[in-house]
Amino acid sequence: MARHDGTIAVVTGAGHGIGRSIASQLVAEGAAVAVLEIDEPKGSETVSQIVEAGGRAAFVKADITNADQVETAFAAAENALGPVNLLVNNAAFTDAGDLKGMGLDSWHREIDVNLNGTYHCIRAVLPRMRSRGGGAIVNIASVNGMRYFGNPSYSAAKAGVINLTMSVASEFGRDGIRCNAVSPGSVRTDNITWTIRQQKDPGVFEKLGRWYPLGRVAEPMDIAKAVSFLGSNDAAYISGVVLPVDGGMLAGMNVMIDEFILEA
Ligand SMILES: NC(=O)c1ccc[n+]([C@@H]2O[C@H](COP(=O)([O-])OP(=O)(O)OC[C@H]3O[C@@H](n4cnc5c(N)ncnc54)[C@H](O)[C@@H]3O)[C@@H](O)[C@H]2O)c1
Repeated sequence: MARHDGTIAVVTGAGHGIGRSIASQLVAEGAAVAVLEIDEPKGSETVSQIVEAGGRAAFVKADITNADQVETAFAAAENALGPVNLLVNNAAFTDAGDLKGMGLDSWHREIDVNLNGTYHCIRAVLPRMRSRGGGAIVNIASVNGMRYFGNPSYSAAKAGVINLTMSVASEFGRDGIRCNAVSPGSVRTDNITWTIRQQKDPGVFEKLGRWYPLGRVAEPMDIAKAVSFLGSNDAAYISGVVLPVDGGMLAGMNVMIDEFILEA
């Protein structure tokens, strides 16, 4: 029996990048997945890839900043696949500004997609999971929500996601609901931010790799496998945690030690 046999998951933002890898990994381990996306062509492409490979998936369109659209999308996901028992909050947006240069719109947009959007999905799934005796929620946070690495509005939203994770775990544990967060470091994806950085410096991921004790940035599947574990019964007694998937980066500053402390 595969680890996710019987899992019916909603993965937000699964039309691209890490979310697509999470959806594929869950399906590879037995799950059926609803791809909840604002971008219909990209979401449908994920579904086609899964179905062509013999898996079960459905596309549901929603902008997660709109609570009504989210509620409708969860109803559609359950109509298509059955009762949802795993939610992965992955969809996100950033335009990577700093406090000095950021407009008010940018602050509001990043809080709205990354924090309010996550809350809307949790709000839609909780009554469903409670009425059926439980389920699991995995929120994709970021190391930016745990330390300062630039990008303050995104970081504030991700810090909010981490605290929300703890609130849900505490309030709904007795309903059989587990809620955890995964905090990736840099992940080799072609999202807008990384595309711009790669245009400026094609070697950006290799340069960044030296800051990570494991000597490289993450691949999307590194994140997907951690999500799959936390969303499964293998993590049945784990709730309220924030798991950095960062190659050891938060544990220490190799580069600083090499260059400033242990110099000959
Ligand atoms: N890529 C990295 O280096 C990195 C690092 C740390 C954390 N993360 C986190 O991992 C997750 C995935 O990141 P990614 O790089 O794959 O992102 P991405 O930008 O490649 O994909 C995000 C997806 O979310 C969808 N989306 C955006 N706004 C939406 C909305 N309002 N409603 C519904 N869907 C929406 C987009 O259409 C897109 O398909 C995010 O939560 C991100 O914050 C990424």
